[in-house]
Amino acid sequence: RPLVVAIDGPSGSGKSSVSKEVARRLRLAYLDTGAMYRALTWFCVTRGIDLQDAAAVEQAARDLILDLSTSPQEEYVRVDGADVTEAIREPEISSAVSAVATTLGARTELIRRQRELIEKHHRRMVVEGRDITTVVAPGAEVRMLLTASEEARLRRRGIQLGGTQNAEQLAAQVTQRDAKDSTVVNFTQAADGVVTLDSSELDFAETVDAALVI
Ligand code: CDP
Repeated sequence: RPLVVAIDGPSGSGKSSVSKEVARRLRLAYLDTGAMYRALTWFCVTRGIDLQDAAAVEQAARDLILDLSTSPQEEYVRVDGADVTEAIREPEISSAVSAVATTLGARTELIRRQRELIEKHHRRMVVEGRDITTVVAPGAEVRMLLTASEEARLRRRGIQLGGTQNAEQLAAQVTQRDAKDSTVVNFTQAADGVVTLDSSELDFAETVDAALVI
């Protein structure tokens, strides 16, 4: 029987590690939709596509030959056969990804692929992102918004406030990315029927346990 677990949340909420563990425990497939936006961004940057050119970014989304792991046990992302698992996490990509993710035509194409992957796995999948509970899979059996205080989110990103100038810069980058992202998808407030799980005061194991009883 179908069991789609939709998990949304901002950067540093612990979404990825929690989603993966929930998938392992429930023996479900796993989809990191953020990795899809990152892979598309990598593809555009590598091809020298102007990220302000919406038509070009949308076309790139259609041309993208993407192969990503749908197992919580292994992580890989390939574009056109090339392994970009690490490359898509580079700061250059993180700072460019919002420009791609706010291109509506590109979103439409990635959302189509996400829904296709959910169907391919017979609707037994943990899907994490920013718009899963609201747009990609609003009919999911379990819908959850994972939040955390700004302080906790930065801490998880390895950023200590009041630290070095570099740390302050990193903090500003993450905050800016969340601000840009939230112009197209609202992941700061839970939609109707979506359960909010605040992980500020919880460690990893406690967060997973809390997620499993939702
Ligand atoms: O690194 P972090 O966990 O914060 O982000 P991610 O999950 O890897 O997602 C990277 C970026 O993809 C986000 O900053 C959004 O711009 C975009 N994204 C999106 O727009 N919609 C999604 N469902 C997932 C990610």
